[in-house]
Amino acid sequence: MQGVTNRAVRQALARRGPPDVLFTEFMRVRHGSAAGARLSAGDLGDAAAFEHGLPLVVQLIGRDVGPLVEAALAAQRAGAVHLNLNMGCPYGRMNVGCGGGMLERPDELPTILRALRDVMPGSFSVKTRLGWSDPEQIFALLPVFEAAGIDFLVLHARTVAQRYDGLAAHDVTARVVVSTKLPVIANGDLCTAEGGLRVLHQTGAAGLMVGRGALRDPLLFERLRGRAPQHPTPAELLLARQTFLRDLAHAYGALFDADGQVLAKLKSSLSAMDDEGDGRAFRALRKAKSVEAFCEGIEQLGEYADGDASGA
Ligand SMILES: Cc1cc2nc3c(=O)[nH]c(=O)nc-3n(C[C@H](O)[C@H](O)[C@H](O)COP(=O)(O)O)c2cc1C
Repeated sequence: MQGVTNRAVRQALARRGPPDVLFTEFMRVRHGSAAGARLSAGDLGDAAAFEHGLPLVVQLIGRDVGPLVEAALAAQRAGAVHLNLNMGCPYGRMNVGCGGGMLERPDELPTILRALRDVMPGSFSVKTRLGWSDPEQIFALLPVFEAAGIDFLVLHARTVAQRYDGLAAHDVTARVVVSTKLPVIANGDLCTAEGGLRVLHQTGAAGLMVGRGALRDPLLFERLRGRAPQHPTPAELLLARQTFLRDLAHAYGALFDADGQVLAKLKSSLSAMDDEGDGRAFRALRKAKSVEAFCEGIEQLGEYADGDASGA
């Protein structure tokens, strides 16, 4: 998740209860730059085959075939083996022909996908929505994906036009699974182990991709595997967040020198995991003026877990 699941967050999640595979945030392909500078230095620094002991998939977001291929080759030279193309992002600049915008020009997809497939020796996958505005568009795209030789499909079961409104339509995911020979990874609103396992079972998907849910419950992967309680109490959830935040403070401290930078990163991660349930417990963290105060706040979370975790 761009701006959220950076390397430190991925590390903290991998330490708590790892998924099978990690994805990078999307790496923006610079169309206006020279061929040798399609990806930023920061993105190239993130490109790798493995991260924290897990396979890493590098995700690109871009528009035109030439720059996309050059970016894929640059990522490969930097160490990437597995590539994913973002065809789902509904926002801002990304929407103009990139990300979800690609679904508005499906005629160009065979060329783009084939070209990327040809340069990637490792897995090549796409992450897409059900369609631009028509949730049935996916069924016209499946033969295109299959002909291009992609390895698997990650499906966020909403349309681009829908953005994040409503609920992911996993009944359509189930129809997609039986309509293609490609492995389908279900994505969208999988925020609890019970819900995730239900979707896995009901859709026949080959796997699940979890985004926001892993920030709200850092033990979600463990719960999905049956290695942590499937229905955590508010106190258990708060303790999972506390341990995650501790790991995150440590990881950001190692990545950045400046206190202000570490604090800003911690607060941004906090806002991604924050929800109403942790109201008062998280208040001290939101107000912290230094990393030290933030870390003190992390330790105090245990007091809320001992009492009423909602702090209401
Ligand atoms: C802040 C934010 C950033 C995101 N960035 C990305 C991204 O870089 N690449 C991507 O494929 N999806 C991105 N997404 C979409 C999520 O990966 C996911 O498809 C979507 O949130 C639905 O899944 P979830 O309910 O498990 O979060 C982002 C979503 C959010 C809210």
